[in-house]
Amino acid sequence: MKKTIAVISVLFLAIVLIISCGRKPAQEKKVDQEKQVNPNGSSELAIVMRTMMEHGKELKKSIEENQPLVPYPVEIKTLMTAQPTEGMIEDKDVYNGFATFHLATLDSIYLKNVEPKVQFNHMVKSCVDCHENYCHGPIPTIKKLYISSK
Ligand code: HEC
Repeated sequence: MKKTIAVISVLFLAIVLIISCGRKPAQEKKVDQEKQVNPNGSSELAIVMRTMMEHGKELKKSIEENQPLVPYPVEIKTLMTAQPTEGMIEDKDVYNGFATFHLATLDSIYLKNVEPKVQFNHMVKSCVDCHENYCHGPIPTIKKLYISSK
């Protein structure tokens, strides 16, 4: 009996975690519409992520239109120190590995003598790679950032 209860509560916890991450794209849309409103309960990291999404869209636009590249907001550098939702990241070293790689790909877009479009797509890939390990919900939205090669 005790065992059954334990199994049920573990399952319940897992479901709650999956649902909270799966809900992310819908929440993000809400933020798009209401801009400054941060729904209660957003972690520091979730807010940094929304900034990353917004910047990604602006940067994509500037690359597609051959405009000067939009610089990235400094908050993105807090990717490794911002407080995540509880239970989201249990292996901080692995997470930091993905985060370090992501920041390197982001910086590489701004280097001289690179093809910004190619570097940008590497950067988007590094978002997706990390999300496959931690948070599947926003992946379809992130993939829309890819710049198709025409
Ligand atoms: C190093 C890992 C990592 C990288 C790289 C990463 N993410 Fe995330 N992302 C996360 C984690 C973990 C969460 C869950 C944050 C939380 O709930 O505290 C998240 C959450 C999100 C969310 C949901 C935020 C919300 O409203 O709750 C969006 C949108 C998002 N990321 C977009 C992006 C985009 C766009 C990129 C690339 C430009 C990116 N992420 C790169 C790990 C990452």
